[in-house]
Amino acid sequence: MGRKIYLLGIVGSMRKNGNTSLLVETVLKSTRDIYPDTGTEIVYMSELNIEPCHVCFDECCREPYKCIIEDDLEEVFEKMKKADGIVIGSPLYFKIPSRLTAFMERLVCLSYFYKRRGFKEPYPLNDKPCGLIAVSGSDNPYPVLETLLDFVLRLRMKPIIMKNYPYIGVAGIGDVRKDEKLKPLENARIMGNLLVNEILKTFKNNG
Ligand SMILES: Cc1cc2nc3c(=O)[nH]c(=O)nc-3n(C[C@H](O)[C@H](O)[C@H](O)COP(=O)(O)O)c2cc1C
Repeated sequence: MGRKIYLLGIVGSMRKNGNTSLLVETVLKSTRDIYPDTGTEIVYMSELNIEPCHVCFDECCREPYKCIIEDDLEEVFEKMKKADGIVIGSPLYFKIPSRLTAFMERLVCLSYFYKRRGFKEPYPLNDKPCGLIAVSGSDNPYPVLETLLDFVLRLRMKPIIMKNYPYIGVAGIGDVRKDEKLKPLENARIMGNLLVNEILKTFKNNG
């Protein structure tokens, strides 16, 4: 077996054992099934302390990716940098959960200043393969996927594109184990497969 893969799951739900967790876990499990030398870890937004951006125009303007707020953001960001691939899942909460919004806002802010200050090195998450997951109670969760897509593209990550609707990720409505229409569990397993292939391609390209 070749190089070990490390995958990070980010569960944006404020419920630890709900539909979002199940789909993120399913993607990670499927990666372990097809590439046993895979280490996986999940961070749960519900367990983290992440504040919104304070708009201090201070630390992150001077030094890229250094935020003045002392909370859990930096630790998650370090894990994201270390990971060979990332899976991000979110439920529809009218829009998306506010803590996940704060998380994305802070990282997008840091990347904005990275560009504004003219730093020439590649973005720390450049080309990192990532899988996107969205769930909802009854409405179409597609807008959640669009938000996640916008976020990962701003950070120059590489989203996995699926062959089935909704294409830009995996979606489920209601109890994802019973969603016969969008088949989220089946698609989550396919996503795991595609994610491993993408990561192995990256390893090959980078030597
Ligand atoms: C605050 C809040 C707002 C929600 N808003 C919507 C909504 O606008 N449309 C919808 O279809 N479901 C909505 N839901 C339902 C969740 O998207 C759904 O229960 C989802 O499965 C929750 O994810 P989880 O199982 O990972 O906790 C909302 C749930 C919460 C807690």
